[in-house]
Amino acid sequence: MDANSPKPAHRFVPSGPLTGTIRVPGDKSISHRALLFGALALGRSRISGLLEGEDVLATAAALRAMGAKIERDGEDWVVDGVGVGTLLQPHGALDMGNSGTSTRLLMGLLASHGITAAFTGDASLSKRPMGRVIEPLSRMGATFTPSPGGTLPLMMEGLQPAIPIEYRLPVASAQVKSAVLLAGLNTPGTTTVIEPVPTRDHTERMLRGFGVDLHVEEVNGAKHISLTGPCDLRPCDIEVPGDPSSAAFFAVAASIVPGSDLVIENVGMNPTRDGIYRVLAQMGANIEKRNERTIGGEPVVDLRVRHAELKGIEVDPAIAPAMIDEFPVLFIAAAMAQGTTVTTGLEELRVKESDRLTAMAAALALAGAQTEERADGLLIHGSGGKPFSGGGPVRTHLDHRIAMSMAVAGLASESGVAVDSIDPIATSFPNFMELLDEVMA
Ligand code: S3P
Repeated sequence: MDANSPKPAHRFVPSGPLTGTIRVPGDKSISHRALLFGALALGRSRISGLLEGEDVLATAAALRAMGAKIERDGEDWVVDGVGVGTLLQPHGALDMGNSGTSTRLLMGLLASHGITAAFTGDASLSKRPMGRVIEPLSRMGATFTPSPGGTLPLMMEGLQPAIPIEYRLPVASAQVKSAVLLAGLNTPGTTTVIEPVPTRDHTERMLRGFGVDLHVEEVNGAKHISLTGPCDLRPCDIEVPGDPSSAAFFAVAASIVPGSDLVIENVGMNPTRDGIYRVLAQMGANIEKRNERTIGGEPVVDLRVRHAELKGIEVDPAIAPAMIDEFPVLFIAAAMAQGTTVTTGLEELRVKESDRLTAMAAALALAGAQTEERADGLLIHGSGGKPFSGGGPVRTHLDHRIAMSMAVAGLASESGVAVDSIDPIATSFPNFMELLDEVMA
């Protein structure tokens, strides 16, 4: 996406009750990993429920450029992997679009392969820090030439065989954890990641599914995750559950639009991802979990969400890693709650697809909400259920989650909320607009 090209603004109009039964697309994090590990297994893996968003398709394109065969087969996707250690040198730059996850995980994968690669991305991705993966991967022997500030466009050269490391994560980041573990797969010896603050554990769960002997132990409250390479991955069939981050937009929408009663089926409820649902419950949301089950090694539920009067709370910063992508939409819920919501410890939000604290403070103000931006969070004075006055167009800064959060605000507004572009939504939730029409009908 080109940040400078003019895009038509879109106005999200006020809505009556949201009703019906929907399914959101597959989990973005799990989809990336299913493709990556499938490409590293020797033989054919089959994936059902893969998210066909632009971010995941960027991962698929890069893996194809390095020799994996990845194709849609009816409703499923099949991946014919090349095995660990035998990726091919790509011809041409790897275009990562808007996707930080594709970039950082692939950098990890390439770090222990004898491959030289160039990574490029859109204007949003080209501002995001890559130093956090460059640092540990350099210790493993890879070399990097990033743009000034440690960003994309970037050239890297992997080292084969790479050097195993023990790495303590300085930031709570599943992407950094996964990058180091991916590099470890083709590194002789034991690679260990020490995680003081738990982050999403899809990499650990799925590597075991692909037959990797992963050791996880807790030492003084920190998680030590080790694998001994080189590892063989055996192909595997994967069912990707619905994305709890995508479901959150509909859960908040149904919570704030009076009269709503909406069922969202097949939502992943991994405890490292379910923070938004725990916080909404603390705010008084009426969200019932039904049909708890396990799919592809991940907990899954159906959610029934009914409108409720929400109350403002102080959000415990310790829950942030389990809902790191859901703060923009939580801010919408907070703006409709009774009383003040305080969030702290959210510096990481400033280096997501946009600076989500500044972007959301500006967007909420344009829509008529009262917010105060702090260095590490937002303070939001809720309206006590009174709809947003509405307005815009708000700037989405190429950030899908800003666009969808403000869409939700528009549903609970007097005059609608306009966003500068809905194009970014396709990175993670290609049928968002269709589902919105469906639940509003
Ligand atoms: C992701 C990890 C998180 C999250 C991102 C997806 C992943 O990023 O924000 O959307 O799939 O590993 P960080 O690792 O930067 O926290």
